[in-house]
Amino acid sequence: MGLPSHLPRIEQFVASRFLCSCSRYYGRGSRQRQQVQHTSSRAYNVVPPARDSTEKAMMDRMLRVDHAGEYGANRIYAGQMAVLGRTSTAALIEHMWDQEKQHLKTFIELMAENRVRPTILIPFWNVAGFALGAGSALLGKEAAMACTVAIEESISEHYNSQIRELMEEDPERYKDLLELIKTFRDEEMEHHDIGLEQDAEMAPVFWLLKNTIQAGCKAAIFLSERF
Ligand SMILES: [Fe+2]
Ligand SMILES: [Fe+2]
Repeated sequence: MGLPSHLPRIEQFVASRFLCSCSRYYGRGSRQRQQVQHTSSRAYNVVPPARDSTEKAMMDRMLRVDHAGEYGANRIYAGQMAVLGRTSTAALIEHMWDQEKQHLKTFIELMAENRVRPTILIPFWNVAGFALGAGSALLGKEAAMACTVAIEESISEHYNSQIRELMEEDPERYKDLLELIKTFRDEEMEHHDIGLEQDAEMAPVFWLLKNTIQAGCKAAIFLSERF
């Protein structure tokens, strides 16, 4: 299905995201066409213009932490690929990483469009993310997958809490953003399930590894929302 050529760049991108991501859930039916037409009829794209300083602060916080999370996920998969890139697990990691690249690209575009700065901790997440990905992969494929399970569960829970917050605020006003976050949340859950299918729970000290990584995730989310 082609995309209307008159759409601005961000709408083209989001529409293409819906077309490729939602096809797994809804097939190539009328709902997709409605979503594309819906986005094209709005005066704004995905994130509505802030009505006041409170809404601006909420959107800044959400986009900044989501960008940081996707950036960190990209660095983790880069680290895993540096170690496991020539093994039979590489194709699966590459598949997940490709989706993370799209998530990150989306938030970079949304931040630029809404004049939101990234967290000042990006250089730290750059190093920490790669070290976590490579370090867990050095412990073995199962430990790399345990890392994936821990990270993806945390990101999914984080997206779920954002979905709840936006639903409580105004589901109609944030309809496009909610759709986007739900799509990404579903893909993070897919990554989580891949990790489990790939024997994450067979990793040595799985629960210790998982709980430690998730504590780190909570701290990363807390800091990235504020700085
Ligand atoms: Fe992601
Ligand atoms: Fe993910």
